[in-house]
Amino acid sequence: MRIDIISVLPELLEGPFSHSILKRAQDKGLLEVHVHSLRAYGLGRHKQIDDYQYGGGAGMVMMCEPLTNCILDLQKDRTYDEVIFLTPDGQTLTQPLSNRLSLYKNLLMICGHYKGIDERIREEFVTMEISIGDYVLSGGELAAAVLTDSIGRLLPGVLGDETSALFDSHQDGILAPPVYTRPEEFRGRKVPEVLLSGNFKKIEEWRNEQAEKRTAERRPDLL
Ligand code: ADE
Repeated sequence: MRIDIISVLPELLEGPFSHSILKRAQDKGLLEVHVHSLRAYGLGRHKQIDDYQYGGGAGMVMMCEPLTNCILDLQKDRTYDEVIFLTPDGQTLTQPLSNRLSLYKNLLMICGHYKGIDERIREEFVTMEISIGDYVLSGGELAAAVLTDSIGRLLPGVLGDETSALFDSHQDGILAPPVYTRPEEFRGRKVPEVLLSGNFKKIEEWRNEQAEKRTAERRPDLL
């Protein structure tokens, strides 16, 4: 899969893809992430990318022309399955949505800044608008990083243990059960006996029970 990201602050996206699982995904050739600086498409000597909003009001708006020129440039080389705008008024990201997006080959993400982007860019180019939660970030970059991470780890071959993504919280619409590692006793707290029993049927039953209990306690809305 290839993900292109248009950003005013590409530096913000240097870290998240250079480590751990997403780095491994790129090293293995399973994922390509390309970050494009919108500033390169800015207008005039000052490379302007934003302007005052019509009708007045505080906050600048990202202009049509730089975004259009950047998007058209990228679309010369490939067709995008979705052009995604990260925005707090988009549909909320969920595991099923990440699962669906992980099946595509080419995604283009646009990170907003300031007051947002000119509405006509949304009408003209954007095919999907995604929010990572009901709170407002300073820009779309961290949201694009979250979305890229949640998609990238689902690509076949990215996770070492092929099955492990299947048991994540939310993957079955239910939270994951508790997990333990050594030592067997920590500050008087013992690892549940059943996990030491070697009885895999019992362990599986216990994990299912715990997952349901945890979901009922913490996220009854999921049941
Ligand atoms: N940009 C600012 N806040 C955001 C959010 N919650 N999700 C996606 N993009 C955003």
